[in-house]
Amino acid sequence: MTAANPMMSTETPSLPVFVRTPSQAAEDIAAEILELVASRARAGRCAVLGLATGRTPLEIYAVLARRVREERLSLANVVTFNLDEFLGLAPAHPQSFRRYMCERVFGPLGIEGERGHLPASDVSDAHTEAHCRAYERAIAEAGGIDLQVLGIGSNGHIGFNEPGSARDSRTRVVELADSTRRDAAAAFGGLERVPRRAITMGVATILDARRIRVLAFGAHKRDIVRRTLESTPGSALPATFLHGHGDVRLYADLEALGTGFQGASSR
Ligand code: GLP
Repeated sequence: MTAANPMMSTETPSLPVFVRTPSQAAEDIAAEILELVASRARAGRCAVLGLATGRTPLEIYAVLARRVREERLSLANVVTFNLDEFLGLAPAHPQSFRRYMCERVFGPLGIEGERGHLPASDVSDAHTEAHCRAYERAIAEAGGIDLQVLGIGSNGHIGFNEPGSARDSRTRVVELADSTRRDAAAAFGGLERVPRRAITMGVATILDARRIRVLAFGAHKRDIVRRTLESTPGSALPATFLHGHGDVRLYADLEALGTGFQGASSR
């Protein structure tokens, strides 16, 4: 281990770790989101959220849905942009991220129509480039992302920025890594049914977010969390590009951090 290892360093870590159970993290992040939304509403402005799919953020969305329902909150000033979407699926396909968002987020939170953005899953090859540029433009026109919710793939991808993705990459079509397709195979009912391509926000698009809240829970994330914390930023592990962002937090449980976690950087 080197002095640059944030888990051993006594200096301020560049990727601050917040040790939380999944439930605690969901409550904390949902509260942060609702405070942001309320403060923007008081100022007559929109709150722009960057959202992720996958299993990890589900509890955040459940807490948000519960609080919106119980406290009769309005999210009428919320605009959302998803990180990514599989390419080559009908929007209503059970594994499309649009379907996930409609069922888990847009419906329960009352985010209607034009306010919930995802890259298209069914855009033709001739139109993907224009579509990706329009997605970047829409984020910019909304005022940029205030808070990005993020997971980490088992190979260190963020969004679908697979290993090899550049720090300055923007929204684009990507080939999915074999490991990513294997991770998705069970949900799709077989590897051959998993799309080979996706559209993802780029690394630079993600890093433009004013706040980034990364989540990683469970022993199956331990290896990638350790490597993300220990490695210097580089394309081999896109999650390492999060180091040094001005307002990033990694929420992880002890299963993901491992028993050797020193806690020097934890809150
Ligand atoms: C998917 C998504 C990522 C997500 C990651 C982890 O491939 N494109 O945005 O963060 O996998 O998923 P999970 O939260 O299910 O572990």
